[in-house]
Amino acid sequence: MKGVIFILFEEFVTENWGAETFEALLDDCPHLAKEPIVAPRTYPDAWVVDLLMAACRRLGVTPADALRAFGQFCFGGLVSRYPGFLKGVTDAKSLLMSVHQIIHVEVKKLMEGAVPPNLFYEDLGPEDLVVHYESKRGLCTLMEGLLNGLGAHFGTPIEHAQTACTHRGDARCTFRIRIPLLVGKL
Ligand code: HEM
Repeated sequence: MKGVIFILFEEFVTENWGAETFEALLDDCPHLAKEPIVAPRTYPDAWVVDLLMAACRRLGVTPADALRAFGQFCFGGLVSRYPGFLKGVTDAKSLLMSVHQIIHVEVKKLMEGAVPPNLFYEDLGPEDLVVHYESKRGLCTLMEGLLNGLGAHFGTPIEHAQTACTHRGDARCTFRIRIPLLVGKL
């Protein structure tokens, strides 16, 4: 996973529970790199999981709740770091539709070795779509949080329901999504 995600996780913990809590998580994961993490470098996926599990133990939250909350925070963090990706995009649905073929393609050019998930879209109408998520990382709960962050960014209450999940034995994860058109544009 790219360093930027680790940096955002540190910000997420520090802003919500303080720098001492993040230091304590690092103490719980002594195998992590001692030198500062840098955004474009790739670090083992297992490190994110280890930090997340350490946070769950210390804060008494479930991994799903932690990932969902981090996903929402992450969207805001990514947008403020890479504002160019939102240039000219005026609504949440257009942004979501652009993630796979534009945003993550640019991410791969910018950060060598980045492996964002595969997203496949079914556009069902102005307010409705289906997004299929495929990734060996199995972070569909992070995806849920990112959807919440997307809605918060545009002031649009995005409704989403996960109708298939690899963790339940399905071939891929599927989200049925409704993004009300008018709210974000008023
Ligand atoms: C400005 C917007 C965005 C930027 C700059 C961005 C960038 C990134 C980056 C850098 C990664 C890490 C890739 C790696 O470590 O190899 C990532 C992962 C991911 N992105 Fe995005 N992203 C954006 C928006 C979104 C949105 C809106 C969604 C879906 C709603 C999404 C779904 C994901 C997921 C689920 C991952 C975790 C990796 C995985 O599941 O394999 N991203 N993204």
